[in-house]
Amino acid sequence: MSDTNNRRRKDSAKLVWDTKPKRAPNPRDIEFQTAEIVIPNPQEAQSSLPLFATPQSGLTSLFPEQMGELPLGGYEIDKAQMNRLIWGDNLLAMQALLSQGYAGKIDLIYIDPPFQSDADYSFRMTVEGQQIDKEASIIERLAYTDTWEAGLDSYLDMLYPRLQLLKRLLIDSGSIYLHIGSNISHYVRVVMDEIFGVENFKNEIYWRRVFSHNDTKGRYGIVTDSILYYSKGSDHKFNAPKKFHDSDYINSRYTLSDDKGNYQLVSLNSPNPRPNLKYEYKGYLPPANGWSVSKERMQQLDEQGLLHLPTDKSKKIRVKNYYDENKGFIVANIWDDISPVNSQAKELTSYPTQKPEALLERIVKASSNEGDLVADFFCGSGTTMAVAERLGRRWIGCNLDKVGIQVSRNRMVNQQAKPFLLENIGNYQRHMIYLSGSKIGEMQRIILKLYGAEPRSDRPDLGVKTNDDGTTELVYVGYPDRPVTAKKVIELAQETQILDGSGFKTLVVLAWDYDYNYTTEYESRKKLLKSPLSVDIKALTIPPEIYNYLKKAKNEAELDGLRDKITFQEKPYLKVSKPEIRDAGNGKVIISLGIDRYVLMSFPIPEKQQAELRKAIKDNFAALIDYWAIDWDYDGVTFRSTWQAIRGNGRRSQTVVTLAESPELPLGKRTIAVRLVDVFGNDASATVEVR
Ligand SMILES: C[S@@+](CC[C@H](N)C(=O)[O-])C[C@H]1O[C@@H](n2cnc3c(N)ncnc32)[C@H](O)[C@@H]1O
Repeated sequence: MSDTNNRRRKDSAKLVWDTKPKRAPNPRDIEFQTAEIVIPNPQEAQSSLPLFATPQSGLTSLFPEQMGELPLGGYEIDKAQMNRLIWGDNLLAMQALLSQGYAGKIDLIYIDPPFQSDADYSFRMTVEGQQIDKEASIIERLAYTDTWEAGLDSYLDMLYPRLQLLKRLLIDSGSIYLHIGSNISHYVRVVMDEIFGVENFKNEIYWRRVFSHNDTKGRYGIVTDSILYYSKGSDHKFNAPKKFHDSDYINSRYTLSDDKGNYQLVSLNSPNPRPNLKYEYKGYLPPANGWSVSKERMQQLDEQGLLHLPTDKSKKIRVKNYYDENKGFIVANIWDDISPVNSQAKELTSYPTQKPEALLERIVKASSNEGDLVADFFCGSGTTMAVAERLGRRWIGCNLDKVGIQVSRNRMVNQQAKPFLLENIGNYQRHMIYLSGSKIGEMQRIILKLYGAEPRSDRPDLGVKTNDDGTTELVYVGYPDRPVTAKKVIELAQETQILDGSGFKTLVVLAWDYDYNYTTEYESRKKLLKSPLSVDIKALTIPPEIYNYLKKAKNEAELDGLRDKITFQEKPYLKVSKPEIRDAGNGKVIISLGIDRYVLMSFPIPEKQQAELRKAIKDNFAALIDYWAIDWDYDGVTFRSTWQAIRGNGRRSQTVVTLAESPELPLGKRTIAVRLVDVFGNDASATVEVR
């Protein structure tokens, strides 16, 4: 035997690239923070549905889980059982799920990772008839540029550890479908073989996503995507999807008909010599090889009226084959019967890479059963979850892109899904910094520099900015893992008045995020101060693109050049109206509450569109609101929205109403919380006390 034969192993071929990760990522103890418990009750549906009804009003049968004493506080929710929409990097989300005991818990995974290196991640929308392009936030852009920075290598660097984690999350009888473009499907398939095992490869499905394409210079048009389908083990669920022939097919093949239906005539000549089946039947001589059925069978068919006996006895007997409407056939791996989402479709969200629900429906039905858990960690506009919900599956969706999260949330609310969680990955910023390898103190220094301030040597979070007119400002940078609170800002303001002896006139706060009820809290704390504050306070937010600059800038001089490219946005301003309370009898009240004002200082859109947008929203701030929701009985910890108004996307978008009315609520003291997300993904919130 040759040397090669001695050393030969089976199926050892693998894909190798320079930066291929050596170790699989571990589960990580990262918390999820509940941003909202969404109890869908879209404002548009409220006129037709008696939502908020008491159990006897009939809604119980429609949404049993949502009813009971809803939304009056006694609503027990088991978060562990709920569907979840997670905003954040899926690597972190999967590590967190694994550390929470999700290993082997997911029945079906579908993922559709981005596969177009030149994709444009801006999101087009129409506000008051004006088209605007929201640029991708840099957190998103960073993820995408990172993904393609070193071409295929970095793409595989991104995908490989994620596939390893996906495998751990799958149950033994589970399946994974990976949707990918033909530009890289062959590489990804080899990697999938390595991780899931060649023996678990089931199909490469070709989905015909378009009918014609213009990319035909010197080659054939590319009209398919691949969907790689693998099982985790040998014993996997598969409910083979069936299809039925269309009427053209039936009429062209089953050309004859009688009172039993359409039929075709099929030969009874044996293809191989069958000397024992050479018999004469009713004067018809046997074919050269003999008949394909025995004489008894021939008689049976005759009695059943299934034989075609030609008048000319020199011709051969044939059997009638009726078209069986229930039979259908099992779908093969070319899927050319599912059209892309068209511009008129009801399901259209305008999310650029949205896939059709029919595609997901086929996959979800084939590889999961009712009650199973279905997940999509690159969930985009939420197609997988919309379908899973409709088909009675449980679901987890994850997305890095805030617009995608917004679109998905709106989609699930409009669909009146069962209550679900909207979650952040806790300590998100800190983990992002960790992922990009920087320390927090260093980060704060850089942010100060980018704002144009000189970091102070005595405090890592403070700096001083000298303006062109010689005036100075004290600048504070928040910590990435905690929001800036009103209490902190008041303390800082008091310190600002006396710092360095003469104090500063202006305090600039640069925050990653502000506390939930910052504005109201700040106003009420300010009123309680014994001596009024004498400093101006500018509350700004740090744009997430800082990560990008941090990665790129190699030295301080480079930072200087970046300064005018980045804008610290002023915190959006939300003012809710004074609640109006109406007596509804039997110890109940009805509360009306609205939004008085929403002001956004800057827009992340191309400059040329800005002035137009400002004009368009001048007397109509509501046009900027994408979603707003109310918790009529806020417990101070978890925001449970039981009323939502949604702007919607595409042609169906409409300005939200700005006034809401509660169901009948028991008399008594309560806190009402309002949360708003604008079309750019900015959050704002406020709470009101009602007695
Ligand atoms: C091609 S789209 C998916 C579209 C989706 N199938 C649909 O029907 O709408 C890919 C999505 O993956 C998201 N994504 C990319 N990298 C990610 C990451 N590291 N973590 C989470 N989501 C990510 C993108 O934001 C984008 O929404």
